[in-house]
Order: sequence, then C-alpha cells, then structure tokens
Amino acid sequence: MTDIKELLLSRIRDVADYPEPGVLFKDITPLLADPAAFTALTDALAELTVRHGATKIVGLEARGFILGAPAAVRAGVGFIPVRKAGKLPGATLGQAYDLEYGSAEIEVHAEDLSVGDRVMVIDDVLATGGTAEASLQLIRRAGAQVAGVAVLMELSFLPGRQRLETALAGAPLEALITV
Ligand code: PRP
Ligand code: MG
Repeated sequence: MTDIKELLLSRIRDVADYPEPGVLFKDITPLLADPAAFTALTDALAELTVRHGATKIVGLEARGFILGAPAAVRAGVGFIPVRKAGKLPGATLGQAYDLEYGSAEIEVHAEDLSVGDRVMVIDDVLATGGTAEASLQLIRRAGAQVAGVAVLMELSFLPGRQRLETALAGAPLEALITV
C-alpha cells in the first residue's frame, strides 16, 4: 500500500454497531482533525479533479461538502452543493433514489450546472451507490458532462461500483481507499 493510503486508512475509525446493530461505521472525523492527513486527502482529490479535466466539483451533502469544498479551492474550480431535498432556496432540479427502506431525494440549484460544465462528484463513501448515481443523473439532466466520481472510500462488499456503471457511461470512478 502507498504511504498516502496507509495514512488515510490509519485515520479512519471503525465504530461497531453504529448507527444500528451489525453495521461497522467508518468515522472520518479523526482524519479531518489531522491536518497532515486532511491536506493529503484534499491534494489527492484536487489532483484527480484536474487530471480528469473537471471544471466544477459537486459535493454531496453532508460529508461530501467537507471533502469537496477544499478540493475545489485547491483545484481552482467552482464548488456546487448537491443537497438533501428542501434546503436550497432557488429553482432546483431534484432526483429521487431508493434506499434499503423507502426513498430519498437530492437537489441542486438548476442555474449551477449547464452545458459546457464538466463535473467531478466528490463524496466520502461509496456504499450502495444510490446517492452518487442520483447525483450523476442530476448532472446529466442539467446538460453537463460527468468528469468522474471520486470518493475517499469504496466499500467493496457492496455493489456500488456496479450500480454506477450506466450513469458513469465510461467516466472514471476513483476510490482512494477500498475496504
Ligand atoms: C452516507 C455517505 C455517502 C452515502 C453513501 O451519507 O456519506 O454520502 O451515505 O451511501 P450510498 O452509496 O449507499 O448512497 P449519509 O446521507 O448517510 O450521511 P451524511 O449526511 O453524513 O453524509
Ligand atoms: Mg453522505
């Protein structure tokens, strides 16, 4: 494993039985509290953003905001928040997606994405892929191009990567760590 992967992995805390019994929660707060690790993560996400020719970063509420915003500043591109439904004041595009039980919806300000934009989606974790897939659908419906998806961590025991295949349409899915 490379140094950066080891550093990032060493700052992620496993919390058993959270938020419910049987789930092993990946807590990134120790990583955020360590300036060397957070800087290394920000640099890596910014480098992927530049390498894949993105002109904007979409961050997925909430943890995708924490990682995506500094990466956007570092990469010199704009930051667009994709929020849980009902939080944005302007005209929005919304996308519903299925959860294990029930459904959820995310929204983006319609004016924030348009034809000519090339967008990198950033989030902390790719689990089932539902959130990321919905964000890609939003980006395409806005007429923008998908530069890729970059996550800190991919949970390889879940089929998130497979779920994203159609929406990615050949764009890269970059995971800094796979667990
Ligand atoms: C978590 C995580 C990812 C998403 C991954 O967000 O931060 O955004 O779930 O799951 P998926 O691949 O199955 O969609 P969550 O909304 O639980 O919490 P947050 O608001 O703290 O980011
Ligand atoms: Mg999240």
